[in-house]
Amino acid sequence: MRFKDRVALVTGGGRGIGAATAELFAREGAHVVVSDMDIVPAEQVANPIGGLAVACDVTSREQVEDMVGRAVRELGRLDVLVCCAGIIRDNLLFKMSDDDWDSVIDTHLKGAFLCARAAQKPMVDQKYGKIVFLSSTSALGNRGQTNYSTAKAGLQGMARTLAIELGPFNINVNAVAPGFVETRMTRATAERMGVDFEAFKVGAASQIPLGRIGQPEDIASVIAFLSNDESSFVSGQTIYVRRPLAPSHSFLGSLRERPSPAGGAGKYQHRVTLNVLMTRLRLQVRRRASGRTVVRRRTFWRSSPQIRIEFGPDGPNSSRQPTGCSPHGVDWLADRLLRWLGLLGILPPPGRIHQILGVGIAN
Ligand SMILES: NC(=O)c1ccc[n+]([C@@H]2O[C@H](COP(=O)([O-])OP(=O)(O)OC[C@H]3O[C@@H](n4cnc5c(N)ncnc54)[C@H](O)[C@@H]3O)[C@@H](O)[C@H]2O)c1
Repeated sequence: MRFKDRVALVTGGGRGIGAATAELFAREGAHVVVSDMDIVPAEQVANPIGGLAVACDVTSREQVEDMVGRAVRELGRLDVLVCCAGIIRDNLLFKMSDDDWDSVIDTHLKGAFLCARAAQKPMVDQKYGKIVFLSSTSALGNRGQTNYSTAKAGLQGMARTLAIELGPFNINVNAVAPGFVETRMTRATAERMGVDFEAFKVGAASQIPLGRIGQPEDIASVIAFLSNDESSFVSGQTIYVRRPLAPSHSFLGSLRERPSPAGGAGKYQHRVTLNVLMTRLRLQVRRRASGRTVVRRRTFWRSSPQIRIEFGPDGPNSSRQPTGCSPHGVDWLADRLLRWLGLLGILPPPGRIHQILGVGIAN
């Protein structure tokens, strides 16, 4: 029971990572304040674990101070603060509104600031406290997330600074930076991109060395580590939970290849399925047919996480083959394609089938 008799307050505790954290804390003996701007999900989490559900919008100083005051009044102290309240309002810079910016910055940065400032009072008096912020791999940069990336990078700075200020009072302040976790937030991202969530998850998993996406419990266990005395000499740190293989904007995808039964003797035909989670893909397609080379440039905008590229002859007598590739060179081409897409940092193409005999990337 790592949290026996401890009092923990989790903002955004009604759903996702916050809910999993509240449940884990309670299983390990904590009295938990489950706070959320939506009281119904907060109660649904709090009731089965004997927690205290509190409605609180973290962007409001009054509500945050009331929430912390109530926790201390009703439960006697405050040992752990976990700031999970979060939203996304993704858009490319030229389309990002003032409101997209303000609401994300206010929820993540101002919200964490207000909560930490309110929570430090009882923690300083007790000479004991643990504060955990939720950063993100997006802090490293992510296309369409100027607001969110900025906020998540800011939270790492906040953790480092508060670790310095509050360390003398035996208060640890750290951040956890998850990658892709299956929650309402990532579901909303898929919906915004017009992408089927199951396909979105498959694409994301293909980029994770462990071969699966995160679940809220995977993050809750790291938050729990930072919220008890196992980690009492860890402060001012950010723990990445699934750091991307490369900066997340160069997220690529996976390729599957399968021989097509349409390929006759002496012929070949491969279908390569490239799952990419990107917003823009420009392909320059060179077609070689009848001694002529036709160059086509196409720009695809996000709509589906999947582009299907079919290589090979489109007729029984055709001798076309991918430019620069042997009939068995699909792997080579696929590798190149992935590398190019990565260098360009581009995003999802639509789910269409294209006959492509040679591929280049136009930037
Ligand atoms: N899901 C991911 O892949 C992922 C990755 C990295 C970081 N994170 C971060 O983890 C945290 C939790 O995200 P999640 O995926 O569990 O999201 P979620 O949408 O499942 O849960 C977020 C909760 O925050 C609440 N909330 C939103 N605005 C609030 C406000 N102003 N005041 C109080 N509550 C508010 C929502 O009502 C919701 O219950 C967020 O800070 C998010 O940015 C999530």
